[in-house]
Amino acid sequence: MSDQLVSTTRHGDVCLVRLQREAKLNALSAELAAELIGAITSHDVATSRVVVVVGSPKAFSAGADLTEFTDPSPEETMRYYRDQGRIWELLPAIPQPSIAAITGWAIGGGLELALSADLRIADETARFGLPEVSLGILPSAGGMSRVVRLLGAARAKELILLGERFDAARALELGIVNKVVPAGEAEAAALEWAQRMAEQPQTALQVTRDLIDRSGEMSLAGSLAAEKLAQGMLAHSAESYRADR
Ligand code: COA
Repeated sequence: MSDQLVSTTRHGDVCLVRLQREAKLNALSAELAAELIGAITSHDVATSRVVVVVGSPKAFSAGADLTEFTDPSPEETMRYYRDQGRIWELLPAIPQPSIAAITGWAIGGGLELALSADLRIADETARFGLPEVSLGILPSAGGMSRVVRLLGAARAKELILLGERFDAARALELGIVNKVVPAGEAEAAALEWAQRMAEQPQTALQVTRDLIDRSGEMSLAGSLAAEKLAQGMLAHSAESYRADR
């Protein structure tokens, strides 16, 4: 295997982004973060229709690299979020929908990375947790904010304040993952969903994904109006259905 910590591979219109710092359970070091930023902003991703992010058999990612936490000053914390901390904002910012394929550990920042994708598929080996409070901090890479929005405040408090680890079946029950597949099948299952999305009319796919994300932040009346405006635009797109063509 190469020394690269992150690789991209095209599968037709789908771009597979692989974390491959396997010996350290894909802990999100500064070096890995730089490569992940490079991968998500690469030509391979830009020209794809759907992105799948996958880890290694033992871990999607064990989170932030704990060995790199040496300077907790406000200045360093701000630098962190401006620089390597961008990894948790990349997937929501690209036009392509994304799927995280999770095997093994998805802990702390690793789970937060998976939560930044649109969809999550886990295999039966997946194990999850947000242990930050036990480390005297909080899940500040979107974990708190995204879990509240995904699950509601009571579930978010349960996961974050107790900080307990949970398995794939519980993740499915909670709604953290969309689907659980047998061990070793998460990547193939994510590629299959990705391929199906890649075959959809792309303008409709991207506009609808964007509106779903924004709808939760809008009033119902605003969201209903946005739906109709977007419909007016999509109805004129080259791929839209028309009875007369
Ligand atoms: N940062 C840096 N290194 C990490 C890491 C992290 N977050 N998570 C794991 N590693 C390293 C270990 O130090 C170990 O390295 P070594 O082989 O050189 O000693 C290697 O990855 C394997 O981890 P290990 O702990 O031996 O695996 P395990 O299967 O026994 O346990 C975990 C798996 C995920 C339970 C455990 O590694 C863990 O708790 N990691 C930290 C999770 C965490 O708190 N993340 C940060 C949240 S903010």
